[in-house]
Amino acid sequence: MDIFEKLTSLAKRRGFIYQGSDIYGGLAGTWDYGPLGTELKRNLKNEYWKTMVQLRDDVVGIDAAIIMNPKVWEASGHTESFADPLSECKKCHHRFRADNIIPEEKFVAADFTIADYKCPDCGGELTEPKRFSTLVETYLGVIDGEKLKTYLRGEITQGVHVNFKNVVSSTRVKIPFGVAQIGKAFRNEITPGDFTFRSREFEQMELQFYVKPEDEESMKWFEYWKNARKQWYLSLGMREENLNFKKHVKLAHYAKAAFDIEYNAGGEWKEMEGIHHRGTWDLSRHEQFSKQDLTYFDEETKERYTPMVIETSGGVDRAILFFLMDAYREEEVKEGDVRTVLKLHPKLAPMKAAVFPLLSNKPELVEKARNVYESLRKEWMVAWDERGNIGKRYRAQDEAGTPYCITIDFDTLEDDTVTVRDRDTMTQERIKIAELRDFIASKLA
Ligand code: GAP
Repeated sequence: MDIFEKLTSLAKRRGFIYQGSDIYGGLAGTWDYGPLGTELKRNLKNEYWKTMVQLRDDVVGIDAAIIMNPKVWEASGHTESFADPLSECKKCHHRFRADNIIPEEKFVAADFTIADYKCPDCGGELTEPKRFSTLVETYLGVIDGEKLKTYLRGEITQGVHVNFKNVVSSTRVKIPFGVAQIGKAFRNEITPGDFTFRSREFEQMELQFYVKPEDEESMKWFEYWKNARKQWYLSLGMREENLNFKKHVKLAHYAKAAFDIEYNAGGEWKEMEGIHHRGTWDLSRHEQFSKQDLTYFDEETKERYTPMVIETSGGVDRAILFFLMDAYREEEVKEGDVRTVLKLHPKLAPMKAAVFPLLSNKPELVEKARNVYESLRKEWMVAWDERGNIGKRYRAQDEAGTPYCITIDFDTLEDDTVTVRDRDTMTQERIKIAELRDFIASKLA
């Protein structure tokens, strides 16, 4: 089993991620987050918001609508250029992204003959690549035939740029400043796959950072954000050897420079987040299409200009997939006994702790444990488990990524101490109930 298959299986077994519409055989490229996955996602998004908005003087957040006026997508260039090259097998009729079959350098330089490449599934001949729009269409209105055709947003970015004027006039921001957003995006991907890696519905977490339209100044910010975003992944425990920067050979229609932060997914580098220098593309295009003045007046220099944009665009689902992959370990505890454990950073872990009464048939232990559980859950998500033997309960929490298991035993009744078992080292220590809160809080600081 490769790492994607192992994670897909663990994710379903423990309630992190399920196939979307599972009982109907699924819907390709859609995924549902289960109880643990939902907590992990909330934690990840909260950490993003804290770092990118809460702790910064120069960034504010917004939450724009998913469905926008279709003119937005003309202005942004998506109706014209947001497309993938599609090739179809003449024999089995499976469809592929030609740029996944033809090596990148050759594809970008258009230096290839399609006859040199064969269908990856049956070896059949492929058709010449043709443009396939990945925008997902939707229709609004109540009268058939008069419905307005628009799109489910292909990126969350445009919701920020169309609000540039609103944000400048309703807040105290001054350039350089950024607007962050987290939300759903939709793409009709030709080949969804690799678990959640390429989905048709997914979430993005983005920053649009507006700077003076000067090459040196904008490149300084580009470098700053490139490094800051890598640091964020490291600060949440991702292993540095699994991260890489990749410079784009082919730039998107809006970009002046671009790098990906890649993750080493089972030996293959895969895009996790993009850092893009978008130049003045977005604001000048929206100005042209909306006929509104979207320039910025700089009070300091008394200049009026269209700012440049440095964008950091990460996938929430991809980050979750790669944090899970990075945390996944199979460890031999003793000969023939292998445990599966998710060594997630405590800040990301769905449950911060699990509380167990040693025996479920001793009411005095259950009552004491319940009190500990009730007091801790006021602050954090905490699991409760009273079934089976303690060893099995530890293993279940290892697979859930719970960093601390707290057991209430007969000594607890005497001295008000509990056993705290550490997920990563499997060592145990006695801690006073009165100190448990500070103990967990210190791990989350
Ligand atoms: N606003 C720029 C933008 O959307 P992108 O490189 O197309 O740039 C940014 O997407 C990030 O969104 C990617 O790095 C990835 O993490 C995530 N993403 C893109 N397409 C995705 C898909 N089909 N499934 C899951 N995540 C995706």
